[in-house]
Amino acid sequence: MERIESVAQMQRHCLEARAGGRRIALVPTMGCLHEGHLSLLREGRRRGDLLVLSLFVNPTQFGAGEDLDRYPRDLAGDSEQARRVGVDVLFAPSVSQMYPSGYASYVNVEGLTEVLCGANRPGHFRGVTTVVCKLFTIVQPHVALFGLKDFQQLAVIQRMTADLNLPVEIVGLPIVREADGLAMSSRNSYLSPAERRQAVSLSDAIALARGAVAGGETRPDALLQMVRRRIETEPDAVIDYVRICDAGNLQDVPYVDRKAVLLLAVHMGKTRLIDNSYLFEEDCLS
Ligand code: PAF
Repeated sequence: MERIESVAQMQRHCLEARAGGRRIALVPTMGCLHEGHLSLLREGRRRGDLLVLSLFVNPTQFGAGEDLDRYPRDLAGDSEQARRVGVDVLFAPSVSQMYPSGYASYVNVEGLTEVLCGANRPGHFRGVTTVVCKLFTIVQPHVALFGLKDFQQLAVIQRMTADLNLPVEIVGLPIVREADGLAMSSRNSYLSPAERRQAVSLSDAIALARGAVAGGETRPDALLQMVRRRIETEPDAVIDYVRICDAGNLQDVPYVDRKAVLLLAVHMGKTRLIDNSYLFEEDCLS
């Protein structure tokens, strides 16, 4: 496995690979790899013959007072996992490589980014789309893989890719969960043992809602009340949002159908957790 830190070198490497007929698969991450990332890398390995993993804790997607400084970093551990899963190139640029002095260009997707996570994290998705667009122009991937845990992020990236005619296939893969149902996330490492126990309330609440839908309930209000009640039994849980939205436009739905996704964001102590699921059994993504 090769490790590249320079943007120019990475771009040269990928342009040569493309010219040589290789199919490039990119898995963009902020590192601290867990089984969710590894599932993306394994699928990337199948879909490309040059597998690139980017590790970059992107400052432009963190708001003031968010966890940029304490975001978990483990380059040595990540390199070892990447090597084992068959990554060809680990791209780990510095902040000054990605955003050199004088940097002034940003990509903004309208509409999809003002709701849900965007409502309480202004500028977050602008940072995500900017860095992902830059990674696409640097790495020139044929296919890029993202986790469905960040459902809104995936929708925004799909919109950007279509709107800007970027020649990249976007693949979303199912959420990978711990044995008790908690969606895997690098931020789970922030949870105290008590918060970790309470964090299972998100996936429990999703299971309750899915069970009710399987039993015939299609009224969003009734389902949302059930979800809120379950989460609010936990002393350290503060709900940011609980919504049932259309998977395409992320607007609230009047009744639950196959396109309806339940999306949650909950503060568990100081840690903000997100989770989601389609509500119909046959559309289960995880
Ligand atoms: O999902 C993430 O880890 C990040 O938002 C991404 C897509 C790597 C952009 O920094």
